[in-house]
Parts: sequence; C-alpha cells; structure tokens
Amino acid sequence: MINLSIFASGKGSNAEKIIKHFNKNVTRIKVVCLICNQADAGVLKVAEEYGVPFRLFSNQEIQDGTKLLDFLLLQKVDWIVLAGFLRKIPLRLIRSYPERIINLHPSLLPKYGGKGMYGSRVHEAVIENRDSESGISIHLVNEEFDQGKLIAQFSCNLEEKEDVFSLRQKIQKLEHHYYPKVIEQQINQEAI
Ligand code: GAR
Repeated sequence: MINLSIFASGKGSNAEKIIKHFNKNVTRIKVVCLICNQADAGVLKVAEEYGVPFRLFSNQEIQDGTKLLDFLLLQKVDWIVLAGFLRKIPLRLIRSYPERIINLHPSLLPKYGGKGMYGSRVHEAVIENRDSESGISIHLVNEEFDQGKLIAQFSCNLEEKEDVFSLRQKIQKLEHHYYPKVIEQQINQEAI
C-alpha cells in the first residue's frame, strides 16, 4: 500500500475529488489522513463525510514542522498532496519527503505564482492583464513557493467577457478532472 496525506485549508472540492478517485479506483494508493490549518474549513466536513481521519495543526505548528512530521510518520504517510493548502511547507517536511510532495496551482506557472498568489487573487490578476489563456499547474514542491519541477499543465481559453467567477469555474473543472489522475500517474511512475 502507498499512503497519501492530503493537506487543505479551504472548501475542499479538490480534496473530495481525490478521495473519491482513490476510493473508486482499484489502486495501491490510499488516502490515510487529511491535514488542515483552519478549524472552520469546509474540507473538514468532506473528510468527515468520507471517513478520512483528519488533524488540525496551527500555523505555528506547521511552520515548525516537528509535530506535523511526527504525525505523518506515525500514519506511515508516503506521499503528500496539497489541495488548496495556503501555508508554506516547512523545510523539515520537504527534506523528509523529497520529490514526494505534489501541489496544484490555479495558473500556468511560472505566471502568477509565488507568495500571496492563490485562489481568486490569481484569477483577478489574469483578468486584469487581459490574458487570452490560463490554466492549472501540477508540480513537485521544493523550498521556493510554486517553483518545484512541473509535472503537468492544462490550459483553457478566456472569453472576451470572462470574469473571476467564470474563470474560477473553468479552472476548477480542469483541476477536478486532471488532478487525481495526475497524482496517481506520478506516484505509480515513481514506484516502478
Ligand atoms: C484550488 O483552485 C487550488 O488551485 C488553489 O486553491 C483552490 C482550492 O479549492 N490553490 C492555490 O491557489 C495554491 N497556491 P478547493 O478548496 O475547492 O479544492
């Protein structure tokens, strides 16, 4: 078995797709726990609904990483998948999980990446710059925000009248469709 932990801070629509994907498909991969830093995050309801054990850590605990790493080791976590997790991953974790942490970003990196660039802020910037396309990036996590090795990108076109709401919908459609599949492919490829 390959044990996966999802890290999420928000609504949890991607976390839900990932959990469903690995519940439905026969793979050696299992979502064993979910880590969150927001006591009121929607994703906690998702975890409850699907019976995935979850654990809250404070931002301070995440920054330090010691307790978090102890917990992950106890759960025998092999891979970490970020799904709308808005804190920086501590060095301690990056070193303990080299090339084993995957992130999803709602733009075509290197465009619109880095500190402070997340969620709607990304879409607002894309619309403001009148870009003709946007998309999603799936990448490995290293010590720099949104700068790890790219695994895959998927794009979509922007219409003349595109707004933040409609763009977010397009982007989430891509995320929900591709992220679980790319996670599975990446893990299987590394496990060969
Ligand atoms: C997703 O769109 C994801 O790309 C973004 O947060 C959203 C979470 O949605 N992540 C980032 O911006 C990371 N820099 P969800 O809670 O519904 O899955």
